[in-house]
Formats: sequence, C-alpha cells, structure tokens
Amino acid sequence: RSDNRVKIVEVGPRDGLQNEKKSIPLATKIELIERLAKTGVSVIEAGSFVSPKWVPQMDNSSEILEHILTNKIPSPVPITYSFLAPNAKGVENATALLQKYRDGYLTEAESFSGLKGKPTVELAVFAAATESFSKKNLNCDIATSLERFRDVIQGAKQLGIRARAYISVVLGCPFEGYDVNPHKVAEIATSLLEMGADEISLGDTTGMGTAPRTQELLKCMSAAGIRNEDIAMHFHDTYGQALVNTAISLERGIRTFDSSVGGLGGCPYSPGATGNVATENMVYFLESLGMETGIDLDAMADIGQWISEELSRPNDSAVGKAVLGA
Ligand code: HMG
Ligand code: MG
Repeated sequence: RSDNRVKIVEVGPRDGLQNEKKSIPLATKIELIERLAKTGVSVIEAGSFVSPKWVPQMDNSSEILEHILTNKIPSPVPITYSFLAPNAKGVENATALLQKYRDGYLTEAESFSGLKGKPTVELAVFAAATESFSKKNLNCDIATSLERFRDVIQGAKQLGIRARAYISVVLGCPFEGYDVNPHKVAEIATSLLEMGADEISLGDTTGMGTAPRTQELLKCMSAAGIRNEDIAMHFHDTYGQALVNTAISLERGIRTFDSSVGGLGGCPYSPGATGNVATENMVYFLESLGMETGIDLDAMADIGQWISEELSRPNDSAVGKAVLGA
C-alpha cells in the first residue's frame, strides 16, 4: 500500500441519516448504499444496531444487513459494510443475521486468503472522551461502556470479522466545551486496541476541532504508542474546519478518514452539530494533493445531489455543487 493511498469510510447511510426526523424508506437507504458501492469507496457504514427508542431512523438496520448478505451488490472494489453495535443486544441482533446468511460475507481471514466476490462486515462500538457525553449517548460512564465494548469486540472476533471503535467528542464536547483531555483519549484508545479493536476512529462530533488541537491530539496518540495505521479521523464540519484538520492529520501520517456524501448528518446527542465533512469535498481535496482515494468524484457528486433531494434538504457539499454546476 503506497503512502499516497487514502481510505475513505463513507458514513452517510448511518451517521448521515440517523438524525433525520422523517422516516426514510428502506428502499431509499438501500438505493443509497447500492449507488455508493459503485463509486469505488471501500468501506460503507450502512446501519446501526442500537435502541430504536433512541434512534428510530436506524430501526431497519437488520433489513439492510439482510439485503447486503443476500444480494450481490455490484462494486468495483471489495467492500466492507460497517454497523454500529454498542452492547450485547446489538451484537446478538447482528450475529443472528450473520449466522443465518453465512454465505453472504467473507470473514477477515477469508478476505486475506484472497477470496473475492463477497463483502466483508465490521461491527463498531462508540466510546466518548468525556463522562457527560458518555452518559447522554450511552446511558453509562466511560468505564462501564468499555466493559460492554469488550463483549462486542469479542463477539466480532468470534465471528471472524473486524471491530472498529469510535471515540466521540475528542476535540470538543457539547457539555464540557473545549476541555477535553487528549491524554484521556489516548488512554481510551489504548484500552480499545488492547481489547482487539482493529481501528480507532477519533470523532470530532461537534466540529469544534482546530488545527492546533488536532495536532496536539495526534501527538498525544503517538506518544502513547498508538500507530497511525490504527487511527481514522472522523470530522464533522460544523465550524468549517474539517479539511484544515484533515491536512494536519495527513501531515502526521493518518491515511483513513470518515466522511458522508452530501455532507449528510448531525448527531442526535450533540445539539447544533451538523453533518460529517462531505465525501465530495474530501475526495477533491485529497486528490488535489496527489493522494489516491479510488473514488469517482462525479458519481459521488451525483449521489450527494440525489440524496439531498430525496431528503428535501440542501446539498451540503460545496464541491458537489460546483462539480454539478448547480
Ligand atoms: P440500555 O443501557 O439498555 O438503556 O441501552 P436504555 O434505557 O437506553 O434502553 C432503552 C431500550 O432500548 C430498552 O428497551 C433496551 O432493551 C433497548 P425497553 O426495555 O425500553 O423496551 N436496547 C436495544 N434495542 C435494540 N438494540 C440495542 C439495544 N440496546 C438497548 N442494541 C444504549 C443503552 C446506549 C445501547 C441505548 O441507549 C442506545 O442504543 N442509544 C443510542 C445511541 C446512539 O445510537 N447514538 C448515536 C450513534 S454515536 C454517534 O453518532 C457518534 C459517531 O458518529 C462518532 C462521532 O461523530 O463522534 C459514531
Ligand atoms: Mg459522527
């Protein structure tokens, strides 16, 4: 893998849609995923096995996973479909389908051994960097959440699939402001990696992150012995700083970034937070630096415009609009 290669994790179908008030038809979600699969993106976060009482929009994630496992969704590159699962119940629900449709995906070992033609699947847990955000988002303190995640990660490993771990509010918290301790973030990341997490996604949930604070956080991660290849950056663009912070992260050697088509999104537990940085903006920016994303920008821009219209919201990607001449 060359140093110019960047992995984009398209989180639109989950992070982008979870906060939409109006119920989105299953067919629209599936169309979104199937269109994204054609763009060259290699990871799509497709749903969330969480409490439908708290996040009703993700209620049909089982149907989405079932669709993925029972239909050969065409894609130019092998795709990993990722699903959030915060606790035993989430893993049970995902596992039931993964066992029922065992033919529908490859384990990590199978994909390493060169088998192709089927997707891989990943489960993702989500910790928080502050106690107040943990209580709001997970209904428990950080220590308790980590104990639950141990089971989720073990569940994923038993299935032979990857486990991703988010840490939210790493650069600013809606309840504790800018006062987020980067050493605490590194400590939580270390615990999650020791439990077997394959990748830590550092979430700037509120978009409050700035260039110096991104720099400081990543220095702390290195100082704690965490390798760049185990880190992904997850920027929300509320303050318009996402690409600046991406540049800082790239300079420090990070090569995995989360983004959502059309800049969809907002977190239900982070009042005022807007969407993730738009995938179109990310691809345009990275390619301008000579990095390779493997993603077809025009196709991505078309999807951003289409899904924005479907949701009756403005297209939140400046690049997407410019590319389309809109
Ligand atoms: P809990 O401890 O069971 O407590 O769940 P609860 O009172 O919240 O549970 C309420 C009900 O949900 C109970 O049912 C549970 O059984 C059920 P009831 O007894 O009322 O009938 N339940 C579940 N149902 C289906 N699947 C499950 C599940 N778990 C419990 N997995 C928990 C605590 C955190 C799991 C729950 O509150 C929950 O799912 N909350 C939603 C959290 C969430 O989805 N947040 C948004 C995603 S995180 C994010 O967006 C940030 C990120 O993008 C990165 C970044 O930007 O920073 C990842
Ligand atoms: Mg997010």
